[in-house]
Amino acid sequence: MKRGLPDDAFSGKPMIGICNSASDLTPCNQHLDELAEFVKRGVWEAGGVPLEFPVTSLGETQIQPTAALLRNLMAMDVEESIRCNPLDGVVLLSGCDKTTPAMLMGAASVDLPSIMLTGGPMLTGRHRGAPLGSATDMWRMSEEVRAGKMSAEEFVATESSMTRSAGHCNPMGTASTMASMAEVLGMTLPQSASIPAPDTRRKQLAHLTGRRIVHMVYEDLRPSKVMTRPAFENAVKVLSAIGGSTNAVIHLLAIAGRVGVPLTLDDIDRIGSRLPLLVDIMPAGNRLMEDFFEAGGIPALMAELASILEGDALAVTGRPIRESWQGRTTSDTTMIRPLDQPIIEEAGIAVLRGNLCPQGAVVKPSAASPELLVHTGPALVFDSIEDFKARVDDPLLDVTAETVLVLRGCGPRGYPGMPEVGNMPLPEKMLKAGVRDMVRISDARMSGTAFGTTVLHVAPESTVGGPLALVRTGDRITLDVPSRSLTLHVSDDDLEQRRKEWHAPAPVATRGWSRLYIDHVMQADTGCDLDFLVGSSGSEVTRESH
Ligand code: FES
Repeated sequence: MKRGLPDDAFSGKPMIGICNSASDLTPCNQHLDELAEFVKRGVWEAGGVPLEFPVTSLGETQIQPTAALLRNLMAMDVEESIRCNPLDGVVLLSGCDKTTPAMLMGAASVDLPSIMLTGGPMLTGRHRGAPLGSATDMWRMSEEVRAGKMSAEEFVATESSMTRSAGHCNPMGTASTMASMAEVLGMTLPQSASIPAPDTRRKQLAHLTGRRIVHMVYEDLRPSKVMTRPAFENAVKVLSAIGGSTNAVIHLLAIAGRVGVPLTLDDIDRIGSRLPLLVDIMPAGNRLMEDFFEAGGIPALMAELASILEGDALAVTGRPIRESWQGRTTSDTTMIRPLDQPIIEEAGIAVLRGNLCPQGAVVKPSAASPELLVHTGPALVFDSIEDFKARVDDPLLDVTAETVLVLRGCGPRGYPGMPEVGNMPLPEKMLKAGVRDMVRISDARMSGTAFGTTVLHVAPESTVGGPLALVRTGDRITLDVPSRSLTLHVSDDDLEQRRKEWHAPAPVATRGWSRLYIDHVMQADTGCDLDFLVGSSGSEVTRESH
């Protein structure tokens, strides 16, 4: 027998796949190989057989042109790798931004018993005694360099202090947000989201995860029994309380689509937008994931939110999710605030409608400037991110603090892949004048670690003829977050005339994955999945060629 196992090692035992997204090309996931060994111990101990296999990995900072272009490809790889092999249950090992949603999407479409273990956040890095949030402080400091307030040498020194251990980014960026969503959805054991990557307690959790998946096979506990409508409602509520990434909106909609749970963009606003921010974590707050873990992590936060959560939702523990938070309290009420003493009263992601975004757009008030949440100004339009980069620092750029920066051609089909460029760097001219935020509107996404008054995910995107394609420099635009509206002050007749003059751009890819993606990707308001991947194919493969 291969691997030195005795002949009867496989007989009558659950075959447990360990779906591993470790890769040298994904620094945030590199340590998953080590965690896989602890998962295997738990699987053997509980009477299963661990079988590790690699899947596509997506390193957010490495992949060009954007990792989001490949999320659905990774989800397909996960789905088919699980389905085509003789497995009874699966452990999903993820970490970086896109790897967590891709794994949940793929596993949901197979619906074999599945449990996730995320890799955990990096330890807190410091510069001159101050904590540094990976990426969040990089965004802030790069603006300081451009404003002439920080030297390039100090910027480089600070950047290298940020990444001092294994793990994913440590603010509440997309990786931490999606790890939190996986825990709240019930797809991980408690505390999976926040234990720092190098902490020995994460290895213990890996061991326990390995044990637990074997029992899940005997219990036939599948993702469709865990990721139910109440579980998604809990996720949307916690997303508000943590000041989570706007990218989570797209990923939650896509995961829900795979598992057959009706969840809409309007649900995101209705369920979550009026809820408070309770966790003091970057980019909405000041601290990092290590502090969140020390303060009690997701279980302590859910205990604070217990009165508004659906406690009966089933978790991978085989027990109602409320048992994950019962008896937990935070040890630091400055880090996890009581529900009646929030950091911000209404902090959830808001969904906007209007003649500029008939299928919706999102804005994250907790990362925005309060004085810009109601704002009217003239548009300054950029047709692509390349156009933006070429002109933004021109000293002759006609821009003031009132200007609304508009970027198009960056949606799911147009770029393609909807890159994280919606938090457009401010014009150098404005930075030097002391301006630190402006209203920005685009069909792009924004890094979960970023901040600013940025209207994102405008749908339909410009490339498919959404009204964003018709805006002209000088048009006046009103953003009104309290009334959830985004208005282009151009008459319907004028817009109709502009539409007649508009020509759809040619697709930027003619072959390969990019072409398949362009032909089938859905708009941001439904999660950017490929239209033929929505739903489940199940775990059965009816034909056999051996
Ligand atoms: Fe991987 Fe931030 S780059 S989590």
